[in-house]
Amino acid sequence: MFANKCILTGVKPTGKPHIGNYFGAIKPAIAMGHQAQRFNLFIADYHAINFMKDPELLQKEIKEIACTYLAAGLKPETDYFYRQSDIPEINEITTILYAFTPKGFMNKSHAYKACVERNLAENKPADDGVNMGLYTYPTLMAADILAMDTDIVPVGKDQIQHVEIARDIAGAVNAYYDKELLKLPEYVTADNVAVLPGTDGRKMSKSYNNVIPIFEDEKVIKKAVYSAVTDSKPIEEPKNPDDVIVYQIYKCFAPAEKVAEMAQGLREGKLGYGHTKAMLLDAILNETREVKEVYDYYMAHYDEACGFLEDGAAKARPYAQKTLQRLKETLFG
Ligand code: ADP
Ligand code: TRP
Repeated sequence: MFANKCILTGVKPTGKPHIGNYFGAIKPAIAMGHQAQRFNLFIADYHAINFMKDPELLQKEIKEIACTYLAAGLKPETDYFYRQSDIPEINEITTILYAFTPKGFMNKSHAYKACVERNLAENKPADDGVNMGLYTYPTLMAADILAMDTDIVPVGKDQIQHVEIARDIAGAVNAYYDKELLKLPEYVTADNVAVLPGTDGRKMSKSYNNVIPIFEDEKVIKKAVYSAVTDSKPIEEPKNPDDVIVYQIYKCFAPAEKVAEMAQGLREGKLGYGHTKAMLLDAILNETREVKEVYDYYMAHYDEACGFLEDGAAKARPYAQKTLQRLKETLFG
């Protein structure tokens, strides 16, 4: 389906992942990328400075995200793995795209609108704390995508609008010059990918403090697993698995026969919550053992990871250079 396509995705450096990020986003993105002819995965560090200004913290988060993707199965030799800031042509392309981006697109963009709505709800001026990087975020994202002749952008639902804006801007450029200067990208959303609940039953998210980490010591992971909310039903009371948070998390990634075993045990009153938590912990440790080893390796040998990022930028940059050249030749004659 994607055999002759370029799939591209950008990730913000947000540090160590939790199992929701890992099973719900990172693993599926890599699996989809590996069906493509060319898979570009980059760390969106220019996007990150809009909301993160501390260089030490930024470098720490970039390191953790780079090691995470390498551990999760990215193939640095064949994939295109790079830092956005290593491809300066993306920023030149952004400047060109500004000239074709109606301001109204930016006014409507979700990231900006959400900020304005938050401000108004708190009785602050609408644009309080909004910098131009946040306001024009979708144009830089369009350049990320269009620079690389991308066919497909796998996204979560919140990013669909941004890909549509990229497509609209590309369409405007092509229409103005009456030639296909930029490839129109499409988005795909992975509908069959689960959203993992957190230990309190809401979506697992750093902002809810309900996460189960993956790259921490076993003790820390165990503590998170055992903090999952349960009711006070005794073991022998039959339980509906769909009401049990531990089961809801487990079924997102444990092997099918183990999931069936937990469901049956709960329904028949043969499994108590302590058992289910032990099973969940076991599954997490089993499914992430190797990944954690590779993660620890790259964290300790970060120079190797940086080497991959530099090689990736060297491979990806010619695509951006060609796109920029095409644009400049046409725009400036
Ligand atoms: P968080 O909500 O913890 O701050 P992010 O917003 O940084 O997570 O999400 C990073 C990626 O992980 C996104 O692609 C997002 O869709 C995915 N993701 C986050 N939480 C979950 C979850 N609970 N289940 C599945 N995917 C998730
Ligand atoms: N905006 C995306 C996010 O918040 C990250 C991103 C930046 C991206 N540039 C991109 C994703 C290009 C896909 C394509 O997660």
